[in-house]
Amino acid sequence: MTNLSGKLALVTGGARGQGEAEARLFAARGAAVIIADVLVDEGRALAQTLEQDGFEARFAYLDVTDPQSWEGVVALAKEWKNRLDILVNNAGIINRSTVADTGLAAWERVLKVNLTGAFLGIQSATALMADSGGGSIVNISSNSGYSGHYDPAYTASKWGLRGLTRSAAMELVSKNIRVNAVCPGLVVTGLNASSPHLKPMIDLTPMKRSGKPEEIAELVLFLASDASGFITGEDFVIDGGFTAGAAYRRVAADTGIYRD
Ligand SMILES: NC(=O)c1ccc[n+]([C@@H]2O[C@H](COP(=O)([O-])OP(=O)(O)OC[C@H]3O[C@@H](n4cnc5c(N)ncnc54)[C@H](O)[C@@H]3O)[C@@H](O)[C@H]2O)c1
Repeated sequence: MTNLSGKLALVTGGARGQGEAEARLFAARGAAVIIADVLVDEGRALAQTLEQDGFEARFAYLDVTDPQSWEGVVALAKEWKNRLDILVNNAGIINRSTVADTGLAAWERVLKVNLTGAFLGIQSATALMADSGGGSIVNISSNSGYSGHYDPAYTASKWGLRGLTRSAAMELVSKNIRVNAVCPGLVVTGLNASSPHLKPMIDLTPMKRSGKPEEIAELVLFLASDASGFITGEDFVIDGGFTAGAAYRRVAADTGIYRD
């Protein structure tokens, strides 16, 4: 079983959804965890629950778009454990509108949270992580980072994260810091729970279901841990077969080549 004992992990957007699942799993595997989010009540409540269960957890207010906010959370890591081993850049937002309908402010906001937020995270965490002997950074992209999704700002941010992951991996390898990306498909969370696209997405997904936050967390755990020690600069799709060929599979099913 993957063991994170002695490590300090920082999960952005850790108050709910996939970030919450990652924080819970990391804590259960022995890491001290900083849950960093703009959602203060949810983040504090999660940290308290984990502590009551006997794990080590702290909540920190973090707006990933704000460099000063990052300074604060890295200072907490230094003061608490004097180390940082794992950073999961998980915070993200969507903006379901087309190129024609997306205003400049909305475009910039999505890029700022999803892409600039991760850039600031990598920049802010590097020194403490290097002083800790190295570490692992996992950027949460999306399978929208592989296709032309109907949310262009989100799509551009998630393609961008894959590029940032590779650049950072090349630069930070000399500091023993690995950088990888996870690209989930549909996971029903607060991000999309009321979206009309859930059913059509599930119907098209070869596995005919959405992913569970806990399933995504298992892949993030692997990349965060020493078990993936020879992997850097890679991105991993986890989407029930959607990217692998959902469109051709639908054609094959519609034409009778496959029988569902
Ligand atoms: N849900 C999906 O289908 C899906 C699919 C692929 C990728 N993703 C990605 O997974 C990640 C987690 O999403 P989720 O599904 O758990 O959604 P979620 O909305 O439940 O969680 C996102 C978290 O990010 C936090 N956040 C938003 N803006 C922030 C900011 N400026 N600073 C700090 N925290 C901020 C939110 O408060 C929230 O806790 C996101 O990056 C998302 O793009 C989600």
